[in-house]
Amino acid sequence: MVQLHECDHAERLRRQLKGPWLNPLLKKWVGRGELDYEKYLRTPELLSLQMPPEERVVPDELLFQVVHQAQELWLKLLAHESVEAVAELDRDALWEGSARLERLLRVARCMGAELGVMETLPPDTYQVIRRGLGNGSGQESPGYNAVRMAAEGLEGALERLLARRGASLAGVYSGAAAADLKRLCEQLVDYDEAFQDWLYAHFQLVRRTIGVDATVKALDGLPTRVLSGRMTKPLFPALWQVRVELTAGWCREGGHAPGAPRSDAEAAEPPPPVPLRSGGGMP
Ligand code: HEM
Repeated sequence: MVQLHECDHAERLRRQLKGPWLNPLLKKWVGRGELDYEKYLRTPELLSLQMPPEERVVPDELLFQVVHQAQELWLKLLAHESVEAVAELDRDALWEGSARLERLLRVARCMGAELGVMETLPPDTYQVIRRGLGNGSGQESPGYNAVRMAAEGLEGALERLLARRGASLAGVYSGAAAADLKRLCEQLVDYDEAFQDWLYAHFQLVRRTIGVDATVKALDGLPTRVLSGRMTKPLFPALWQVRVELTAGWCREGGHAPGAPRSDAEAAEPPPPVPLRSGGGMP
């Protein structure tokens, strides 16, 4: 029997993976784009959107492209779902709107986890891929821009809903408004937080791949350090501001005085002071 060299095995498998494949259960050829599954999902177009092996500067370039493309699709979905949520809030369909916000949250969480896959790209390999990226900037991502714009729309829908119900954000968070409004606001905060977590995951990815520092410049010339301020920029600023206002209006009066005894027993018999041990070690 002729022994195949290790590389020959891989090369033969690579050729086989170009398809098509005869599926033994279906007894049909898969990979020709003729089946209903392939037509509906447009797999021939979808799977041809990544560079072919001969154009990749390193094999890991497929990982780099797939994760980016997948993230763009998720961002597209976030923007679409946000528009649907605007329509639901505007017609006072709050249960439907609430279910939609749960979906937004789960997609954003999934995106943060997905970036973990990109963290397996070693920094030196990325340096090679980077040469082919031109002056591309993450700010040029259509999905990212769409999500931020859609979030403005969602914040507008919340404002209209509150106005129709004669409520304000301050009222929602002081118990003066109905509980359904508060639940909805908290779901928006959940989504916003998950979106910022995604940006934080991206920040860590950038940090371990090219470094975050005043001297490390992105391809568009921007120091990577600016990302640390941008990743906490909320989607719904008013919902974060109301917390600041709530705390500004907080007062100690009526609460527990600092250092005061917590129980009658503690008040009657204060525990003996415990001397601080200096120097360490066992007595
Ligand atoms: C190794 C992988 C990656 C590196 C080294 C990287 C690097 C960077 C750098 C240096 C910036 C700041 C400058 C700029 O705006 O271009 C940035 C921004 C950005 N990147 Fe990435 N990135 C990576 C992966 C990704 C992925 C997978 C996505 C998903 C869509 C993404 C989306 C973004 C977005 C939306 C921004 C703008 C964020 C903001 O300005 O707050 N990046 N990236």
